[in-house]
Parts: sequence; C-alpha cells; structure tokens
Amino acid sequence: MAATDLERFSNEEKRNLALGGHVGFDSLPDQLVSKSVTQGFSFNILCVGETGIGKSTLMNTLFNTTFETEEASHYESAVRLRPRTYDLQESNVHLKLTIVDAVGFGDQINKDESYRPIVEYIDTQFENYLQEELKIRRSLFNYHDTRIHVCLYFITPTGHSLKSLDLVTMKKLDSKVNIIPIIAKADTISKSELHKFKIKIMSELVSNGVQIYQFPTDDEAVAEINSVMNAHLPFAVVGSTEEVKVGNKLVRARQYPWGVVQVENESHCDFVKLREMLIRVNMEDLREQTHTRHYELYRRCKLEEMGFKDTDPDSQPFSLQETYETKRKEFLGELQRKEEEMRQMFVNKVKETEAELKEKERELHEKFEHLKRIHQEEKRKVEEKRRELEDEMNAFNRRKVAVETLQSQSLQATSQQPLKKDKDKKNFFSLPSACSITSGRYVN
Ligand code: GTP
Ligand code: MG
Repeated sequence: MAATDLERFSNEEKRNLALGGHVGFDSLPDQLVSKSVTQGFSFNILCVGETGIGKSTLMNTLFNTTFETEEASHYESAVRLRPRTYDLQESNVHLKLTIVDAVGFGDQINKDESYRPIVEYIDTQFENYLQEELKIRRSLFNYHDTRIHVCLYFITPTGHSLKSLDLVTMKKLDSKVNIIPIIAKADTISKSELHKFKIKIMSELVSNGVQIYQFPTDDEAVAEINSVMNAHLPFAVVGSTEEVKVGNKLVRARQYPWGVVQVENESHCDFVKLREMLIRVNMEDLREQTHTRHYELYRRCKLEEMGFKDTDPDSQPFSLQETYETKRKEFLGELQRKEEEMRQMFVNKVKETEAELKEKERELHEKFEHLKRIHQEEKRKVEEKRRELEDEMNAFNRRKVAVETLQSQSLQATSQQPLKKDKDKKNFFSLPSACSITSGRYVN
C-alpha cells in the first residue's frame, strides 16, 4: 500500500451505524468478569513499620482471619523481607494474597540502609515480571504476580512528628509503590493530639516531597468518597482480633480498664475507612496503578539502561531491530577489543615468565659452576693429603723394616756374644729413630 493510501485510510472518519437487531457484543463486560473470576486475583501488601507496631494484628483484623504470625526479634542485624502467600475465597472470588513483612525495621543502631532491602525487594518483583514479559514464550496468564500493590506504612503514634527514618524510607519508596500511611495503635493517642499529629504528618510529607497514594477521583462512582477519604489521610487505626460484648453484640475491640475501643466504630478510629478504601473501593485501582505507573517506570528505566529507545536523536521512530543490531555491533566490538587486550596481556605475561625463567637458569648455572670449582679444589686438597699420608706411611714402613732388621741382628749378636750385650743395647737405644718408633704414635 502506498504512503498516501495509508494516510487516507488512517484519516478516514469512523461512521456510526445502527444495528438491525441483537448481535451480542454487549456481553463483553460479563465475559471479562467471568474470565477474571475464573482466573482469580492476586493482591500483594507490604507492611513497613517498626517491630511490634501492630502489623500482624491489623492484617488479621482487615481480612478477618488469622494469618501465620511469628513475633520478630528486636535483634535483627538488618531489615529482612518475609513474604507469605495465602489463598482466600469470598463468594466465588479467589484471592491470592501475599503479605510481606519488613522484619527488623527500625531495630538497627545505624538505620541509614534500612530502606535498601525494601527497595531491592520491590525491584526484584518488577524484574521478575519484566523477565516473564520479555520471554518468547511468556505465560502471564498464569504467572504469579508478586509485584507489591500497596505499602502500608505504619507510623508510630508519638504525637510529635515523623522520624527521619520514616521520611527517608517513604521518599525512597514513593516512585515504586503506592504508599498508604497509617498511624498505628491510634488508641494510645488522644483525640486532639491525633488531629494535630495528622496535620503535622501531612505537612511533613508535603514539605519533603513524599508522594503518597491518592484515592482516584476520576471515576464518578467513587470520586466523592475518595476525595473525602483523601482528606482523612493518614488513617489512624486500631487492630484487634479480640471480641468484646458491647450492648448485646460481639464486636472486635480492645478492652481497657477505663473502656472499650471498638475497631469498627468510626468515632473510635479510622479502621473502617482503611478497609473501605484499601479493599472495597480501590483494590483494583491499586493493582492498576502498580502496573501502569510504578511498573511502567521501572520497565522504561530498565529498557533505557539496556539501550532501547523509542526515538533516535532526530526524534524519528527507532526500531527494535535497529537497536538490537547497534547493540549487537557494540557488544561484538567490545568483545573483540577485550579479546585482543587479553591476548596481549597473555603474550606479555608469557614473555615476562620466560625472562624470569632464563634469569633463574643463569643463576643456577653460575651456582653449579661455583660448586663445581669448590668441589674440584677440595678434591685436589684431599688428593694431596692422601699423597702426604702415603709418603708418611711408606717412610714409616721403611723405618719399621729397618728397626726389625736391627732388632733381629742385635738378637743374633746377643746370643753369640753375651758379654757384648750391654754395650750393643746401649748403642741401639741411643739411635734417634728408635726413640721415635717407640714413642707411642706408631705403636698399637
Ligand atoms: P512484629 O511482627 O513482631 O514486628 O510485630 P507486629 O508489628 O506484627 O505487631 P503485632 O501485631 O504482633 O502486635 C504487637 C502487640 O501490639 C500485641 O500485643 C498487640 O496486641 C498489640 N497491638 C496490636 N495492635 C494494636 C493497637 O491497635 N493498639 C494497641 N494498643 N495495641 C495493639
Ligand atoms: Mg508481625
């Protein structure tokens, strides 16, 4: 199709036509509902608040059940995220609910990094979803979506102001998740103090540029209630799973020596408002916002980081194929450069090692020659000594033979001339050689 034809086709006005009878596409919304019901829903809540602030009690109160809870210790060395998933059913609607607890939040002496594991957890869930989306064979239909739809931020009821940890954490989270701030254990703060505390919290959030979730006012059906509820934020809640008899009715409440705080009594706390806004009116909007705002932002940043763009520098549409080819070329070029660098490094290393080995060989050779010379010198000396000793031995033997000859001669003479014996003996012992022979060294 020529370009002009295409333009004409896309600019062509759509015409309204009347149907001659019932066709049936008015059942589309019903089909959607039926499909969604069959598929079931998932909803993921992140609870951030200090240890023992009432997170688990509030979850139990909100869903009117008892979730698995185990008390967190105050000695965690860092914040740790603990997700737990439950299958709930109300009428014929199945809800896969995941409650993620930020265990150990606010318990460390140095709280500078407390927000990090929470941000990382949220990002990991986005990343898992993105990876599923990028697969060639994706199965988003039955994918367990673990992206966090809402973060209930539990504020400690000090009556003063937000802690810097609260502000830093909410600021780090606000572009990643829908934050609903709530004042926990609101029964521990008086009515007038609570009013001032709420105003203080909201002004601190505004002055620090923290974006909290605003209940949507664009849908006429809920615009009014949502705008009223926006003015009530942050909700001051009380949690309890205990049932107390008030009048002739059993209600969920906290009983004190001076009276009873009823969880579902709107003049006692904002629990009902929270439940209404979180579950009954805006649950789908929270899911939608997560997908269209927070996940979209994550996806965009991630794809841009990977080098994908929608337009080139001249604002012309950029095709995915071109981006892929450019990236591939860049990658191959880089790979080649790295390979060459490594090859050069290897050659240099081999050269260095070779030189080192040669030097070592030369040193060894020198050492060997030196030792050889010493050995020869010593051998020569030993040889000389041996010769000297041999000479000495020969001289000795000669003297020994001479002495023996003399002895035998003198013995013969003694036997023939006994009178001359004394004289000869005298002569013999006056011989200098005789002295040396009998002087111990050569006598065994
Ligand atoms: P960890 O999971 O251990 O961090 O605690 P948590 O935040 O889940 O608190 P949890 O719900 O276990 O409650 C801790 C204590 O606070 C319990 O004794 C609750 O009964 C009490 N508690 C819970 N909610 C409220 C409340 O609204 N008001 C008051 N006064 N006490 C509450
Ligand atoms: Mg708990």
